[in-house]
Amino acid sequence: MNTFRRRLPGVVYGGDYNPEQWPREVWQEDVRLMREAGVRLVSLGVFSWAMLEPADGEFDFSWLDEIMDLLWANGIHVNLATPNAAPPPWLATDFPETLSVDRRGVRHGIGSRGHFCPSSPVYRDRSRRIAAKLAERYGKHPGLAMWHIGNEYHSDCFCDLCDDGFRTWLRQRYGTLEELNHRWGTAFWSQRYSDWAQVHLPRPVRGWVNPSRELDFSRFTSDLLLDLVVQERDLLHGITPDVPATTNFFQCRLTDSHRWAQELDVVAFDCYPDPGKPDAMAVAAFQYDLMRSLRGGQPWMLMEQAAGAVSQWKTNQVKQPGRMRLGSYQAVAHGSDAVMFFQWRASRQGQEKFHSAMLPHGGEKTRTWQEVKALGNELRTVDEVATARTRAQVAIVWDWQNWWAVEGCAHPDNTFDYRDTVARHYRALWHSQVAVDVVTLDDDLSPYRVLVVPNQYLMTRHHSAAARKFVEDGGRLVVSYFSGIVDEDDRIVEGGYPGALREIVGAHVQEFSPLPAEATVPVQAAAGENALDGFFATASVWQDDLDTETARPLAVYRKGHLTGKAAVTEHRLGRGRAVYVGTRLDDDALEALVRHVLDCADVRPVHAAPRGVEVTERQTRTSAYLFLLNHRQDKATITLDRSGTDLISGRRLQAGETLVLDAADVAVVRSPLAPPQDADRPSSDS
Ligand code: GLA
Ligand code: ZN
Repeated sequence: MNTFRRRLPGVVYGGDYNPEQWPREVWQEDVRLMREAGVRLVSLGVFSWAMLEPADGEFDFSWLDEIMDLLWANGIHVNLATPNAAPPPWLATDFPETLSVDRRGVRHGIGSRGHFCPSSPVYRDRSRRIAAKLAERYGKHPGLAMWHIGNEYHSDCFCDLCDDGFRTWLRQRYGTLEELNHRWGTAFWSQRYSDWAQVHLPRPVRGWVNPSRELDFSRFTSDLLLDLVVQERDLLHGITPDVPATTNFFQCRLTDSHRWAQELDVVAFDCYPDPGKPDAMAVAAFQYDLMRSLRGGQPWMLMEQAAGAVSQWKTNQVKQPGRMRLGSYQAVAHGSDAVMFFQWRASRQGQEKFHSAMLPHGGEKTRTWQEVKALGNELRTVDEVATARTRAQVAIVWDWQNWWAVEGCAHPDNTFDYRDTVARHYRALWHSQVAVDVVTLDDDLSPYRVLVVPNQYLMTRHHSAAARKFVEDGGRLVVSYFSGIVDEDDRIVEGGYPGALREIVGAHVQEFSPLPAEATVPVQAAAGENALDGFFATASVWQDDLDTETARPLAVYRKGHLTGKAAVTEHRLGRGRAVYVGTRLDDDALEALVRHVLDCADVRPVHAAPRGVEVTERQTRTSAYLFLLNHRQDKATITLDRSGTDLISGRRLQAGETLVLDAADVAVVRSPLAPPQDADRPSSDS
């Protein structure tokens, strides 16, 4: 990373560049305009395998030589891709087994992308071969800044090779068939295996699927795809030890980014917030906090975003004036040291010809281009923010293993959407304007005062011990219903619900009582001495029939068969408290509850600001950078709690002064930091 930072200091600007779609004359215009827009890094060759290797073992690097040189002659660095995401037609024709197979057993055809079997030895061999050729040829090219391995890995496969691979993976994991039978609960429905040859990946079944097998297949798929990345990374590092390697994440169900991130030199993320969705920017903030947290707070890279509308949804709305700029600063505010796009120039043909680009079909006269160009130049003013870190006292749990399990089959409520559930909880924190890390219960929880755990259905013994320690050590835990129910095998944690949490929350769920769609139940603060005085909520989707054991009720149901019983409880344990939420509270009530917990834990907003203004802070050893992002449709007024300089406008600001931000506008206020007193001051050395 350090070499990379030396070559590309500051906040990196650029995008995917696909020159193979254009004649040479256009390349000249491309580099001219890239310079105008301050582009410093392009992701090159992501989908160029067929152009680089037109037939098995026949290579043509001439065009890539030329464009690498042209870019470098113009001072533009390259994030060079290994092109394995879109295998060429000859691979499919010569070796049909390299094509992926869907769950129903249908082999995918060519004409799109991602159509590879991750187990195929031929696919692996040919993708490694082209990666090695690229590394050998361009490893010493002065323009090469980093490696972009594949693209948005998401190719699961149900072919016979993967079936073999799954069995091998299981044998390694469990050793004996007896252990496998135990882990998968095969005593149920006569599923007991008496020979490894009977064990298969989950192809379509007659009735409900075995949830433990599904869970293991998800783990296997994530590991299998990661193995492709690791192999290429090792190969590239072997030839170019100083060139950092990454792959671009998106929030993909198949790939456990917590594990993946540990294998990469830097985290890179693609983000496409939907301008048509009111909560899109809060969801983006969550994803950015997750990306920053994956490698312990290290800066990450926004590798792709859209300059305007995308083309993959039913209705693809534009980003209104200023909103692309705002979204770009939002990524930087949450720890990204790059602002990059898919893609540089809008394609004139193919699946994505209506996807926006930095340079639209309409060229230099378009609003998008003007905004792209202005932003690229303006970002220079915040270059010094790069490498700065964020400190959070609050964490929220997001866990791929739980995602796989909690949306499993035949649950009490089968309308579950983990992403949406976590997003709702995160939104409550976002509106509270506090800094948030995104963790799993396997991470170090000691930096946090508040930990929000949305619907952590799957909890290992270690998770349960970690949650207990967190509370006993003085933390405030907020955990919502249908948590602590099963272990890592999807086996009920015995001892009464929520088995893994019962002693921590001090309450027992006698029964799950999901509500019919549209049904709601009023909830109010419990009588007696209660810090939630005046609390009122509308509950929906789910009720726990909850017996408070050592906990006390904070809020109770006012109607229905659970009238008078607890909806929200609080339990003192050691030096901390655990709040348990046994229903789905409406958004306002959830936020009120979360704010109450933050107050009790003495966690303050990063800075006071009106609702809809996002506030974050990044710090180096010497400076604090306060980001104020106005997501509102009108202007916002902020009274500054510090003196500093707005890097973007260059304005000097005094503490107590009022800053007016227009709709969609941004300020980045730098203030000096007192010299560090302790050793754990955030460092700027990543
Ligand atoms: C993903 C891909 C890109 C492109 C964009 C479109 O992020 O990596 O190649 O398809 O989506 O939004
Ligand atoms: Zn396969």
